[in-house]
Amino acid sequence: MTSAVKKAELHCHIEGAASPALVKAQARKYNADVSGFIAGDRYVWSDFTEFLVAYDGAASLFREPEDYALLAQTYLEGTAAENAIYAEIFVSPDHAVAAGLSASAYLDGLAQGIAAAKASTGIECRMIIVGVRHFGAEKVEAAALLAASRPHPLVTGFGMAGEERVGKVADFARAFDIARDAGLGITIHAGELAGPESVRDALDHVRPARIGHGVRASEDAGLVQRIADEGVVLEVCPGSNLALKLYPDMSRHPFDRLRRSGVRVTLSSDDPPHFGSSIGREYQMAADAWGYDAADLTAITRTSIEAAFVDEPTRTLLLGQLG
Ligand code: ADE
Ligand code: ZN
Repeated sequence: MTSAVKKAELHCHIEGAASPALVKAQARKYNADVSGFIAGDRYVWSDFTEFLVAYDGAASLFREPEDYALLAQTYLEGTAAENAIYAEIFVSPDHAVAAGLSASAYLDGLAQGIAAAKASTGIECRMIIVGVRHFGAEKVEAAALLAASRPHPLVTGFGMAGEERVGKVADFARAFDIARDAGLGITIHAGELAGPESVRDALDHVRPARIGHGVRASEDAGLVQRIADEGVVLEVCPGSNLALKLYPDMSRHPFDRLRRSGVRVTLSSDDPPHFGSSIGREYQMAADAWGYDAADLTAITRTSIEAAFVDEPTRTLLLGQLG
């Protein structure tokens, strides 16, 4: 049943979407060793800090525009094969620059892959430039300035990922002001590794349209009410949350409770091969855990499209595909 449902993904880190097989092929291309973070066909890590090491190690092996074109095309074609009509990818110029690529070559490479996947499947995609929180406020501000310069027509949003337990949200407020003033869609990771206070800080200092994860807001009923009242959309990634041990199993995951409280929740895969996930699997897990039928799942997709960082004609076309 879920395979026929039209899907949309709002929260996927492109560097985190590289499969171990693709990363091993890149390692052969650049004569590099991945044994520190890949064993066989699996990433190896046991907590968020080690996950970041594996993530950075994989990213370091994408060094030319065509590497990123291949990565984006592979991810998007796989996502379209699960009946996704739309995907937003988080793109991290800091990771590209660390691998020796300019930001513009990085975005051009990704855009080539996006165009190829659109030609082969019809999937629509936009890019959200992210700053990495544990790289510090200066770097995040530089990423915001880059995004605000509108470096590519497919860049429509700005966000912040990385280690949520580093620094205070207020330290990054200026970066978000720059991006908001440029008319970009705003999202921020909060309420994943840190508790409800991080979500409250994000709402107060960043005024995001969307929050990446946000699930730990569920620990504070007043905050849940505020999120519902303000219409802020949560990009929820249950598979990621289970893999990172935020919750022991789906019966404890707050997605359905948040939804019943009137919060606008969506489903995404975050860093799919790291978490044994994919957009299709997220929808299937939600259907299995909470008995959602095709209409429930399509309503979730509709929320995603309503919250997508796209121009209105594209949004209308996408909503039209949901029937
Ligand atoms: N970067 C990539 N995946 C992430 C996650 N789940 N949380 C924070 N930063 C990330
Ligand atoms: Zn994320």
